[in-house]
Amino acid sequence: MRVLLTGATGLLGGALVDLLLSGGHEPRCLVRMGSPNASRLDPSRVEVVRGDAASARDVRGALVGADSLVHVAGIEHAPPVVEAAREAGVPRLVVVGSTSAHSAYEFRSGPKLRMEGVVRASGLDWTIVRPTMIYGSERDKNVHRLLRFLDRSPVFPIFGPGTNLWQPVYHHDCARGTYEALVRPAAVGRSYDLPGAGPLPYRALVEIAARALGREPRLVGLPLEPIRRALLLAETLRLPLPIKSQQVLRMREDKAYPYDDARRDLDYAPRPFEVGVALEVARLREVGMLKPEFS
Ligand SMILES: NC(=O)c1ccc[n+]([C@@H]2O[C@H](COP(=O)([O-])OP(=O)(O)OC[C@H]3O[C@@H](n4cnc5c(N)ncnc54)[C@H](OP(=O)(O)O)[C@@H]3O)[C@@H](O)[C@H]2O)c1
Repeated sequence: MRVLLTGATGLLGGALVDLLLSGGHEPRCLVRMGSPNASRLDPSRVEVVRGDAASARDVRGALVGADSLVHVAGIEHAPPVVEAAREAGVPRLVVVGSTSAHSAYEFRSGPKLRMEGVVRASGLDWTIVRPTMIYGSERDKNVHRLLRFLDRSPVFPIFGPGTNLWQPVYHHDCARGTYEALVRPAAVGRSYDLPGAGPLPYRALVEIAARALGREPRLVGLPLEPIRRALLLAETLRLPLPIKSQQVLRMREDKAYPYDDARRDLDYAPRPFEVGVALEVARLREVGMLKPEFS
Protein backbone atom coordinates (compact mmCIF):
# COMPACT_ATOMS: atom_id res chain seq x y z
CA MET A 1 0.00 0.00 0.00
CA ARG A 2 1.30 3.50 -0.82
CA VAL A 3 0.62 5.51 2.32
CA LEU A 4 0.86 9.28 2.59
CA LEU A 5 2.08 10.01 6.11
CA THR A 6 2.16 13.39 7.85
CA GLY A 7 4.28 13.93 10.96
CA ALA A 8 6.93 11.40 9.86
CA THR A 9 9.77 13.51 11.31
CA GLY A 10 8.22 13.37 14.81
CA LEU A 11 8.23 10.90 17.70
CA LEU A 12 5.20 8.83 16.69
CA GLY A 13 5.55 9.31 12.94
CA GLY A 14 9.18 8.14 12.99
CA ALA A 15 8.20 4.85 14.64
CA LEU A 16 5.33 4.48 12.17
CA VAL A 17 7.66 4.84 9.17
CA ASP A 18 9.64 1.80 10.38
CA LEU A 19 6.46 -0.27 10.84
CA LEU A 20 5.13 0.66 7.39
CA LEU A 21 8.43 -0.34 5.78
CA SER A 22 8.64 -3.63 7.65
CA GLY A 23 5.01 -4.34 6.66
CA GLY A 24 6.00 -4.01 2.98
CA HIS A 25 4.25 -0.68 2.42
CA GLU A 26 5.57 2.40 0.66
CA PRO A 27 5.49 5.46 2.92
CA ARG A 28 5.40 8.85 1.26
CA CYS A 29 6.11 11.52 3.86
CA LEU A 30 4.68 15.02 3.71
CA VAL A 31 7.32 17.25 5.30
CA ARG A 32 7.07 20.99 5.86
CA MET A 33 9.43 23.31 4.00
CA GLY A 34 11.96 24.36 6.60
CA SER A 35 11.33 21.37 8.89
CA PRO A 36 14.33 21.25 11.26
CA ASN A 37 13.89 17.46 11.41
CA ALA A 38 13.85 16.54 7.71
CA SER A 39 17.27 14.84 7.98
CA ARG A 40 15.66 12.18 10.22
CA LEU A 41 14.15 10.66 7.06
CA ASP A 42 16.29 8.56 4.75
CA PRO A 43 15.25 9.35 1.15
CA SER A 44 16.61 5.96 0.04
CA ARG A 45 13.94 4.30 2.21
CA VAL A 46 10.98 6.68 1.97
CA GLU A 47 9.64 9.16 -0.54
CA VAL A 48 9.65 12.72 0.80
CA VAL A 49 7.32 15.40 -0.57
CA ARG A 50 7.32 18.95 0.68
CA GLY A 51 4.14 20.56 1.92
CA ASP A 52 2.06 21.71 4.86
CA ALA A 53 -0.73 19.64 6.39
CA ALA A 54 -2.64 22.88 6.96
CA SER A 55 -2.93 23.30 3.17
CA ALA A 56 -5.53 21.19 1.35
CA ARG A 57 -3.70 21.98 -1.88
CA ASP A 58 -0.38 20.59 -0.57
CA VAL A 59 -2.03 17.45 0.84
CA ARG A 60 -4.05 16.86 -2.34
CA GLY A 61 -0.91 17.15 -4.47
CA ALA A 62 0.95 14.71 -2.21
CA LEU A 63 -1.92 12.21 -2.41
CA VAL A 64 -1.60 11.59 -6.17
CA GLY A 65 -1.09 7.82 -6.58
CA ALA A 66 -1.56 7.08 -2.85
CA ASP A 67 -3.97 4.46 -1.49
CA SER A 68 -4.37 5.85 2.01
CA LEU A 69 -3.53 8.75 4.30
CA VAL A 70 -2.28 8.57 7.88
CA HIS A 71 -2.43 12.00 9.41
CA VAL A 72 -0.21 12.23 12.50
CA ALA A 73 0.69 15.94 12.32
CA GLY A 74 -2.16 17.34 14.43
CA ILE A 75 -5.91 16.73 14.36
CA GLU A 76 -6.38 20.51 14.18
CA HIS A 77 -5.63 20.14 10.46
CA ALA A 78 -8.58 17.75 9.95
CA PRO A 79 -10.58 20.14 7.70
CA PRO A 80 -7.91 20.57 4.97
CA VAL A 81 -6.81 16.94 5.29
CA VAL A 82 -10.38 15.62 4.84
CA GLU A 83 -11.01 18.02 1.96
CA ALA A 84 -7.82 16.88 0.22
CA ALA A 85 -8.55 13.15 0.67
CA ARG A 86 -12.06 13.61 -0.75
CA GLU A 87 -10.87 15.59 -3.74
CA ALA A 88 -8.01 13.16 -4.43
CA GLY A 89 -10.41 10.19 -4.22
CA VAL A 90 -8.37 8.51 -1.46
CA PRO A 91 -10.99 6.96 0.83
CA ARG A 92 -8.85 5.46 3.62
CA LEU A 93 -7.93 7.93 6.35
CA VAL A 94 -6.41 7.35 9.79
CA VAL A 95 -6.19 10.44 12.00
CA VAL A 96 -4.22 10.71 15.25
CA GLY A 97 -6.13 12.68 17.89
CA SER A 98 -5.62 12.62 21.65
CA THR A 99 -7.24 11.19 24.77
CA SER A 100 -7.56 14.80 25.91
CA ALA A 101 -10.82 14.54 23.90
CA HIS A 102 -12.11 12.80 27.08
CA SER A 103 -11.21 15.67 29.41
CA ALA A 104 -13.97 17.13 31.57
CA TYR A 105 -12.49 20.56 30.76
CA GLU A 106 -13.97 22.01 27.59
CA PHE A 107 -10.85 24.02 26.81
CA ARG A 108 -9.00 20.70 26.39
CA SER A 109 -11.67 18.38 24.98
CA GLY A 110 -13.73 20.82 22.89
CA PRO A 111 -11.24 21.51 20.07
CA LYS A 112 -10.33 17.80 19.81
CA LEU A 113 -13.97 16.69 19.70
CA ARG A 114 -14.84 19.28 17.07
CA MET A 115 -12.01 18.01 14.86
CA GLU A 116 -13.05 14.38 15.46
CA GLY A 117 -16.50 15.45 14.26
CA VAL A 118 -14.99 16.68 10.98
CA VAL A 119 -13.34 13.27 10.46
CA ARG A 120 -16.52 11.33 11.32
CA ALA A 121 -18.63 13.42 8.96
CA SER A 122 -16.08 13.08 6.14
CA GLY A 123 -17.82 10.23 4.30
CA LEU A 124 -14.37 8.58 4.07
CA ASP A 125 -13.28 5.20 5.49
CA TRP A 126 -11.93 6.89 8.61
CA THR A 127 -10.35 5.68 11.84
CA ILE A 128 -9.38 7.91 14.78
CA VAL A 129 -6.69 6.83 17.24
CA ARG A 130 -6.18 8.70 20.50
CA PRO A 131 -2.82 8.38 22.25
CA THR A 132 -2.23 9.35 25.84
CA MET A 133 1.07 11.10 26.61
CA ILE A 134 3.67 9.53 24.30
CA TYR A 135 7.21 8.84 25.52
CA GLY A 136 10.21 6.76 24.56
CA SER A 137 13.13 8.86 23.33
CA GLU A 138 14.82 12.23 23.42
CA ARG A 139 12.13 13.34 20.97
CA ASP A 140 9.36 13.14 23.59
CA LYS A 141 8.27 16.33 25.29
CA ASN A 142 7.82 15.07 28.82
CA VAL A 143 9.46 11.89 30.15
CA HIS A 144 12.94 12.72 28.85
CA ARG A 145 12.78 16.00 30.81
CA LEU A 146 11.56 14.16 33.91
CA LEU A 147 14.44 11.67 33.60
CA ARG A 148 17.06 14.38 33.14
CA PHE A 149 15.76 16.26 36.18
CA LEU A 150 15.69 13.10 38.33
CA ASP A 151 19.20 12.24 37.20
CA ARG A 152 20.58 15.57 38.43
CA SER A 153 18.52 16.43 41.50
CA PRO A 154 18.31 14.71 44.92
CA VAL A 155 14.88 16.35 45.45
CA PHE A 156 11.80 16.20 43.23
CA PRO A 157 8.75 18.48 43.73
CA ILE A 158 5.31 16.87 43.41
CA PHE A 159 2.50 19.38 42.94
CA GLY A 160 -0.61 18.26 44.83
CA PRO A 161 -0.95 14.81 46.43
CA GLY A 162 0.46 13.03 43.36
CA THR A 163 -2.47 10.61 43.33
CA ASN A 164 -3.90 11.62 39.97
CA LEU A 165 -3.57 8.89 37.35
CA TRP A 166 -1.40 8.83 34.25
CA GLN A 167 -1.07 6.17 31.58
CA PRO A 168 1.73 7.19 29.20
CA VAL A 169 2.26 5.10 26.08
CA TYR A 170 5.62 4.00 24.66
CA HIS A 171 6.03 5.44 21.15
CA HIS A 172 6.51 2.03 19.49
CA ASP A 173 3.29 0.69 21.07
CA CYS A 174 1.34 3.73 19.94
CA ALA A 175 2.80 3.36 16.45
CA ARG A 176 1.84 -0.34 16.42
CA GLY A 177 -1.75 0.52 17.37
CA THR A 178 -1.90 3.18 14.65
CA TYR A 179 -0.45 0.78 12.08
CA GLU A 180 -2.94 -1.96 12.94
CA ALA A 181 -5.76 0.61 12.74
CA LEU A 182 -4.65 1.32 9.17
CA VAL A 183 -4.36 -2.25 7.92
CA ARG A 184 -7.32 -3.92 9.70
CA PRO A 185 -10.72 -3.57 7.97
CA ALA A 186 -12.49 -3.89 11.37
CA ALA A 187 -11.07 -0.48 12.33
CA VAL A 188 -12.95 1.46 9.63
CA GLY A 189 -15.47 3.88 11.13
CA ARG A 190 -14.16 3.41 14.68
CA SER A 191 -12.16 5.34 17.30
CA TYR A 192 -9.58 3.79 19.62
CA ASP A 193 -7.83 5.03 22.72
CA LEU A 194 -4.15 4.03 22.71
CA PRO A 195 -2.85 4.37 26.29
CA GLY A 196 -0.01 2.57 28.11
CA ALA A 197 -0.53 -0.78 29.87
CA GLY A 198 -2.11 0.51 33.06
CA PRO A 199 -2.85 3.68 35.04
CA LEU A 200 -0.26 4.91 37.55
CA PRO A 201 -0.56 7.59 40.24
CA TYR A 202 1.84 10.41 39.34
CA ARG A 203 3.95 9.76 42.44
CA ALA A 204 4.40 6.09 41.45
CA LEU A 205 5.31 7.12 37.91
CA VAL A 206 8.07 9.38 39.24
CA GLU A 207 9.33 6.63 41.57
CA ILE A 208 9.45 4.11 38.71
CA ALA A 209 11.34 6.59 36.52
CA ALA A 210 13.82 7.23 39.36
CA ARG A 211 14.34 3.49 39.89
CA ALA A 212 15.09 3.05 36.18
CA LEU A 213 17.92 5.54 36.71
CA GLY A 214 19.12 3.88 39.91
CA ARG A 215 18.21 7.04 41.89
CA GLU A 216 16.23 7.60 45.08
CA PRO A 217 15.24 11.27 45.15
CA ARG A 218 13.26 12.75 48.03
CA LEU A 219 9.76 13.55 46.73
CA VAL A 220 8.55 16.83 48.23
CA GLY A 221 4.82 17.54 48.08
CA LEU A 222 3.81 21.12 47.19
CA PRO A 223 0.20 22.28 47.55
CA LEU A 224 -1.47 22.86 44.20
CA GLU A 225 -4.54 24.85 45.22
CA PRO A 226 -2.70 28.00 46.45
CA ILE A 227 -0.77 28.00 43.16
CA ARG A 228 -4.03 27.79 41.19
CA ARG A 229 -5.58 30.61 43.22
CA ALA A 230 -2.50 32.81 42.74
CA LEU A 231 -2.64 32.17 38.98
CA LEU A 232 -6.35 32.98 38.94
CA LEU A 233 -5.68 36.29 40.69
CA ALA A 234 -2.82 37.11 38.31
CA GLU A 235 -5.13 36.34 35.36
CA THR A 236 -7.75 38.74 36.72
CA LEU A 237 -5.01 41.38 36.88
CA ARG A 238 -4.05 40.43 33.29
CA LEU A 239 -0.46 39.63 34.25
CA PRO A 240 1.55 37.58 31.72
CA LEU A 241 1.92 33.97 32.97
CA PRO A 242 3.77 30.85 31.82
CA ILE A 243 0.80 28.61 32.76
CA LYS A 244 -2.97 29.16 33.06
CA SER A 245 -5.04 28.34 36.16
CA GLN A 246 -7.15 26.03 33.96
CA GLN A 247 -4.02 24.03 33.14
CA VAL A 248 -3.51 23.41 36.87
CA LEU A 249 -7.02 21.96 37.01
CA ARG A 250 -6.14 19.71 34.10
CA MET A 251 -2.98 18.58 35.95
CA ARG A 252 -5.23 17.27 38.73
CA GLU A 253 -7.46 15.33 36.34
CA ASP A 254 -7.05 11.54 36.07
CA LYS A 255 -5.77 10.49 32.66
CA ALA A 256 -6.49 6.77 32.72
CA TYR A 257 -8.28 4.91 29.95
CA PRO A 258 -9.37 1.35 29.24
CA TYR A 259 -8.47 -0.03 25.82
CA ASP A 260 -10.75 -3.06 25.39
CA ASP A 261 -11.75 -1.99 21.86
CA ALA A 262 -8.15 -1.63 20.73
CA ARG A 263 -7.23 -4.97 22.32
CA ARG A 264 -10.15 -6.69 20.57
CA ASP A 265 -9.80 -5.16 17.08
CA LEU A 266 -6.09 -4.31 16.90
CA ASP A 267 -4.50 -6.90 19.26
CA TYR A 268 -3.24 -3.84 21.10
CA ALA A 269 -0.93 -4.86 23.98
CA PRO A 270 1.16 -1.92 25.21
CA ARG A 271 4.13 -2.51 27.51
CA PRO A 272 4.15 -1.41 31.18
CA PHE A 273 5.79 1.94 32.02
CA GLU A 274 8.57 0.10 33.94
CA VAL A 275 9.66 -1.56 30.71
CA GLY A 276 9.29 1.47 28.43
CA VAL A 277 11.05 3.89 30.73
CA ALA A 278 14.03 1.52 31.12
CA LEU A 279 14.33 1.54 27.32
CA GLU A 280 14.18 5.33 27.31
CA VAL A 281 16.90 5.56 29.98
CA ALA A 282 19.13 3.31 27.84
CA ARG A 283 18.41 5.46 24.78
CA LEU A 284 19.16 8.75 26.58
CA ARG A 285 22.44 7.31 27.90
CA GLU A 286 23.33 6.17 24.40
CA VAL A 287 22.83 9.68 22.96
CA GLY A 288 24.62 11.33 25.92
CA MET A 289 21.54 13.05 27.37
CA LEU A 290 21.96 11.21 30.69
CA LYS A 291 25.08 10.48 32.64
CA PRO A 292 26.48 6.98 32.02
CA GLU A 293 25.33 4.27 34.49
CA PHE A 294 27.14 4.19 37.88
CA SER A 295 28.69 7.64 37.44
N1 LIG B 1 3.29 13.62 22.26
C1 LIG B 1 2.25 13.38 23.04
O1 LIG B 1 2.38 13.23 24.26
C2 LIG B 1 0.88 13.27 22.42
C3 LIG B 1 -0.23 12.96 23.23
C4 LIG B 1 -1.49 12.83 22.64
C5 LIG B 1 -1.62 13.04 21.26
N2 LIG B 1 -0.54 13.36 20.52
C6 LIG B 1 -0.72 13.57 19.08
O2 LIG B 1 0.06 12.60 18.39
C7 LIG B 1 0.60 13.17 17.20
C8 LIG B 1 2.08 12.94 17.14
O3 LIG B 1 2.71 13.43 18.30
P1 LIG B 1 4.30 13.48 18.36
O4 LIG B 1 4.67 13.51 19.80
O5 LIG B 1 4.90 12.45 17.47
O6 LIG B 1 4.58 14.93 17.78
P2 LIG B 1 5.97 15.57 17.37
O7 LIG B 1 7.11 14.71 17.75
O8 LIG B 1 5.93 16.99 17.83
O9 LIG B 1 5.88 15.59 15.78
C9 LIG B 1 4.95 16.37 15.11
C10 LIG B 1 5.14 16.07 13.63
O10 LIG B 1 4.14 16.78 12.87
C11 LIG B 1 4.80 17.57 11.90
N3 LIG B 1 3.98 18.74 11.63
C12 LIG B 1 3.47 19.62 12.55
N4 LIG B 1 2.73 20.55 11.93
C13 LIG B 1 2.77 20.26 10.61
C14 LIG B 1 2.20 20.84 9.46
N5 LIG B 1 1.44 21.96 9.53
N6 LIG B 1 2.43 20.27 8.25
C15 LIG B 1 3.20 19.16 8.15
N7 LIG B 1 3.77 18.55 9.20
C16 LIG B 1 3.56 19.10 10.42
C17 LIG B 1 6.15 17.88 12.50
O11 LIG B 1 7.03 18.26 11.49
P3 LIG B 1 8.33 19.22 11.69
O12 LIG B 1 9.50 18.31 11.54
O13 LIG B 1 8.22 20.22 10.58
O14 LIG B 1 8.23 19.86 13.04
C18 LIG B 1 6.49 16.51 13.10
O15 LIG B 1 6.88 15.61 12.09
C19 LIG B 1 0.18 14.64 17.19
O16 LIG B 1 -0.97 14.76 16.42
C20 LIG B 1 -0.16 14.92 18.63
O17 LIG B 1 -1.15 15.91 18.78
C21 LIG B 1 0.70 13.47 21.04
